[in-house]
Amino acid sequence: MEVSSEYAVQMHGILKKFGAFTALDHVDLDVKRQTVHAILGENGAGKTTLMNILYGLYQADEGGVFINGEEAQITSPTEAIRRGIGMVHQHFMLVENFTVTENIILGDEVCGAAGVLDMKKAREEVLAISQEYGFDVDPDARIEDISVGMQQRVEILKALYRGAEILILDEPTAVLTPPEIEKLIEIMHDLTSKGKTIIIITHKLKEILESADECSIIRRGVYMGKVDVKESNETDLASRMVGRNVNLKVEKTKAHPGEVLLSIRRLTVADERGIDQVRELDLDVRSGEIVGLAGIDGNGQQELVDAICSLIKVKAGRIMVGGHEVQNTTPRNVFEHAVATIPSDRHRWGLVLPMMVEENTVLERHGEDLFGKGIMLDYDKLHEYTHTLVERFDIRPSGCEQERMSGLSGGNQQKAIIARQVSYVPDILIAFQPTRGLDVGAIEFVHKTLIAERDRGAAILLISYELDEVMDVSDTIDVIYHGKIVGSFEQGTVDEKELGLLMAGGGSQ
Ligand SMILES: Nc1ncnc2c1ncn2[C@@H]1O[C@H](COP(=O)(O)OP(=O)(O)OP(=O)(O)O)[C@@H](O)[C@H]1O
Ligand SMILES: [Mg+2]
Repeated sequence: MEVSSEYAVQMHGILKKFGAFTALDHVDLDVKRQTVHAILGENGAGKTTLMNILYGLYQADEGGVFINGEEAQITSPTEAIRRGIGMVHQHFMLVENFTVTENIILGDEVCGAAGVLDMKKAREEVLAISQEYGFDVDPDARIEDISVGMQQRVEILKALYRGAEILILDEPTAVLTPPEIEKLIEIMHDLTSKGKTIIIITHKLKEILESADECSIIRRGVYMGKVDVKESNETDLASRMVGRNVNLKVEKTKAHPGEVLLSIRRLTVADERGIDQVRELDLDVRSGEIVGLAGIDGNGQQELVDAICSLIKVKAGRIMVGGHEVQNTTPRNVFEHAVATIPSDRHRWGLVLPMMVEENTVLERHGEDLFGKGIMLDYDKLHEYTHTLVERFDIRPSGCEQERMSGLSGGNQQKAIIARQVSYVPDILIAFQPTRGLDVGAIEFVHKTLIAERDRGAAILLISYELDEVMDVSDTIDVIYHGKIVGSFEQGTVDEKELGLLMAGGGSQ
């Protein structure tokens, strides 16, 4: 490969090992200036690691990095920023109770003549950049009061404020609603037309087709080449990435629902500020069926799940699980009534990151004899048990001894949670954003797992912000808006447009 100033970024022969595990095996990357360049690869393929090397967070064991045709030794993020590289991480790093401006200038404060912080000047600069790129960000708003989409724009602003010419976005759309995604794609195009270069990691093939010029593919740490996006399509991208044909369409037989296992009546739940988020909601899920809840983030889904799991108190109404009332009890009680939950925020609820992978596979079951030696865990048994889950659910740890959960890639952490919850053989499975951050191959696998659980006789409540997912996987689709069910349909009797309208409140009056 030739080094040329036609490219904003070139990475040649990057080798990165973690202990004995090779995360990147001589990977190349060529990103033309003023383009949007996507990086595609399965969970654990090495995408984040490669970008962390470019941003100076990790050091490569071998290989070279060239910025605008010049060799660069990027040994720290400070050095990366100095060279015009900015990175927006998948998990935002903002200070919640600071304002937008305070967050943006944090660590890069502008000082006036007497060395005093010049907030006014900083605020004006932030506003100017926001206006230039149509971000529509209020410089005085507090982070905790603005939407996730806005917070992300603040992260991008922060990078631009530091003079970024090359922007790395690691799974920026995983947490956004469809209109926010559209806006982000618009912003990306605007940025490249004004001279910036963007590298984006995403699992959503549609977005690559809509936003990127070129796409580089990494498979298990090995560079598989790049494609011209104009000449590709979803099926082509998926099979290049996984190395086999992926079925993007969900295949399932008709459901044979039995008795009602989860029954919710006139449920009202308030959030921590005391505002009702779930309002007199009725919902039934029967054995052998998947009920999908379609809705935009923030319409009571989180409070509903928390109430079912007894993580928060309900104000009024009943939650019946297999004939038992479980509202306002304890998470342990709900679990003992054979309810398993795949939580939406894997870091907050799903895992204990500093603990070992093996300990994480039996979180709710530490007390059981199965894994116990008196009050101690039997690590041999645990090891064997974890191995069966790793095989069955295709979790890909790097294979070192005593591996911690924090060392797994995001998607593999998600698979580990699903493996654990399904292994409990629940009567009721609550799946809240079960495929968030997963690659298309893994999504296919999770959908098959949910359908297999259904066919075993479990009652499944699927809550997802991805409308396609709800429409493809559910037998019954309920729409939630402002904490109420505003429509209920059998699969195949409703289209995206009608659901979208209801989700936006178009059908409630
Ligand atoms: N700090 C670390 N210590 C040990 N192993 C690591 C570390 N960081 C990454 N790995 C391993 O390197 C591999 C690549 O991880 P990486 O996070 O780059 O994957 P990814 O392509 O971004 O995946 P995802 O789509 O799931 O985010 C994984 O197998 C992961 O377990
Ligand atoms: Mg990643």
